[in-house]
Amino acid sequence: MQYDVIIIGAGIAGLSTAAHLPSSMKVLVLSKDYPWECNTFYAQGGVAVANSKEDIARHIADTLEAGVHCSNPEAVNILCHEGPEKVQALMAQGFAFDVNEQGALLYTQEAAHSDKRVIHAGGDATGREIHLHLMRHLQTTLLYNTQVVDLLINEGRCFGVRMRTQEGLSCAYANHVVIASGGVGSLYEFHTNARTISADLQGIVLEHGLALKDMEMMQFHPTVYVKGKGVRKQLLSEALRGEGAKVVDSAGHQFLFEYDSAGELAPRDVVSQSIFDYQQTTKKEVFLDVSFLDKPAFAKRFPSIYFAMQNEGVDVPCTHIPISPAFHYAMGGIATDLDGRVLGAKNLYAVGEVACTGVHGANRLASNSLLEGLVFSARVANAIAYSAPTLIAKTFTCKEEVLQCEGDKEKKNALRLLMWENAGIVRNVGGMEEALNRVQDMLKCRTGKLLRLRLLASQEILRHALHRRESLGAHRLVNTPIRK
Ligand code: SIN
Repeated sequence: MQYDVIIIGAGIAGLSTAAHLPSSMKVLVLSKDYPWECNTFYAQGGVAVANSKEDIARHIADTLEAGVHCSNPEAVNILCHEGPEKVQALMAQGFAFDVNEQGALLYTQEAAHSDKRVIHAGGDATGREIHLHLMRHLQTTLLYNTQVVDLLINEGRCFGVRMRTQEGLSCAYANHVVIASGGVGSLYEFHTNARTISADLQGIVLEHGLALKDMEMMQFHPTVYVKGKGVRKQLLSEALRGEGAKVVDSAGHQFLFEYDSAGELAPRDVVSQSIFDYQQTTKKEVFLDVSFLDKPAFAKRFPSIYFAMQNEGVDVPCTHIPISPAFHYAMGGIATDLDGRVLGAKNLYAVGEVACTGVHGANRLASNSLLEGLVFSARVANAIAYSAPTLIAKTFTCKEEVLQCEGDKEKKNALRLLMWENAGIVRNVGGMEEALNRVQDMLKCRTGKLLRLRLLASQEILRHALHRRESLGAHRLVNTPIRK
């Protein structure tokens, strides 16, 4: 099988890359599971985008501030300047963001934004709506249930992928390969990610000696209903706090202002760390009070959350929802340039959460991730479209590899707990060192490849976290103050 472009992943970054490629190109999109099993599908809040020309500068400033001024400023400029045009293009294609009775876009507030600039669709189902829209417009072949297990890289150039389909293992060749496979959710015990998101490609690039960047920067969302039984925990969108929800303890005490003058609207790292700190020091349960809306208004504005909570037996909005922070998003990822070229490999690109252009710095601003998918996918497609044509000259004979061994499932569960406890919201050096030793011991044992990839990615998170000896944004060391 030979293609011009193979795209690994069918979330916003992958599908939008496919949409921007010239129609003359033969493109294959690979989805590990069903295509809706991606983080995009579960994204709630919306797309952050400047609400006017003047707001672009404010969006840049807010993104840099939320990222603790550790972002790559050029990447932030690109995100905020190119964002409005990409959103316009999506709408011109027929995508409907929520509007008021006069047909004007409804902009909402989210934490750490200095203005209302988050647009949404389907109330709180922005990701799902965008995903369905991109799927409807997809004009390339998409293979379901196809897991990439290796990249075909020789002498610094990528020639394609090795993949597992229902028929077994095979190779697919391409002039360009784009990695758009999402973050690392399954490395953590409590997370909001789709079940497919397990750092496979991060592990694969490490096996090929390529670099991951900023891997200590793991974002924990402050308001997650972690009591649900599913592997993916129910997110309670930032937009709830933006529109009036309060974080309270069992006595109804609204304690976040004791940590930061912005209270509920402080940056995500600050709110998560404050809730965690309050839970640890007071041993009290923490809740989200969503009673700012009555039932019909809540069900209309936040339908996904409303039905998910009803399903869990939590009668919102009158009942407060028990919450805890949980892993949500990886700021760190495969190191790329601003057109998504993977550093150190030719004809290989990464885009979306799996990539690290440095745009998010030490803490991503709310709702900047769908925007990142739209903006940087167009740049990747452009870079591919304008690259010199190359001929595929290589075929690979791959050695057979065991993907799964007996006992791997238990080890994956142990790893999730290890990472949650030692590379989580608050970290201590001793714990991280011990966790790193355990991961390295596990790497010495016989495991299937899929577990090995998770272990390699975990090892990288722990190494990066141990390397950074001061608290910064999402990387917080125990007994250090939460940033104001
Ligand atoms: C949310 O709706 O709170 C999540 C949005 C995001 O991840 O930025």
